[in-house]
Amino acid sequence: MEKLNGNKKLAVSVFISGRGTNLKSLIEFSKKKKSPIKIVLIISNNKSAKGINYAKKNKIKFLIINYKNKKKAENKILINLKKNKIKLVCLAGFMKILSKKIINIYKNRILNIHPSLLPKYKGLNTHQRVIKNKEKFTGCTVHLVNSKLDSGKIILQKKIKVFKKDNEYSLAKRVLEVENLIYPRAIKKFIGTNP
Ligand code: GRF
Repeated sequence: MEKLNGNKKLAVSVFISGRGTNLKSLIEFSKKKKSPIKIVLIISNNKSAKGINYAKKNKIKFLIINYKNKKKAENKILINLKKNKIKLVCLAGFMKILSKKIINIYKNRILNIHPSLLPKYKGLNTHQRVIKNKEKFTGCTVHLVNSKLDSGKIILQKKIKVFKKDNEYSLAKRVLEVENLIYPRAIKKFIGTNP
């Protein structure tokens, strides 16, 4: 497998579908002098994703992918990842499931952030389920993507207390703040442990 922590900054592509707060945090991280990454390409399956504005503002190349035909969409993604020499893909609120083809080509090179203490609460509506089940703790996790949903190797995870007064919205807000903090840290750790 190709080395990750060479002298050059690692070419990263971030995939989004919506708001883009994690994208924003990754862009800020990439702009730091000592950052190990450079965000070269932002991909969104949703042309109205708010996160695209961060691409525009920071003059980062972005690509809208029409997912009507998944096979065509993924081929277009693959062509563009190759064209831009992307070495690491970071999913940040990307609402499409990648097929085995992409996952195999980018084996151990796709990260995702999930708003729960994996392996608990895979999938959607995590905060709602956490509140309903009266959990005392929740969290967020950065993990490698494999072909099973939210199941790849955990890179970094942070535990967060659930307060009695919390509802799904207050919890989502608190978890998101921590997500934005840990995603850059997870990338640093991941690159550091893959010499
Ligand atoms: C985050 O909660 C992330 O964990 C989940 O989708 C949400 C994306 O938020 N996968 P944002 O678009 O990064 O603000």
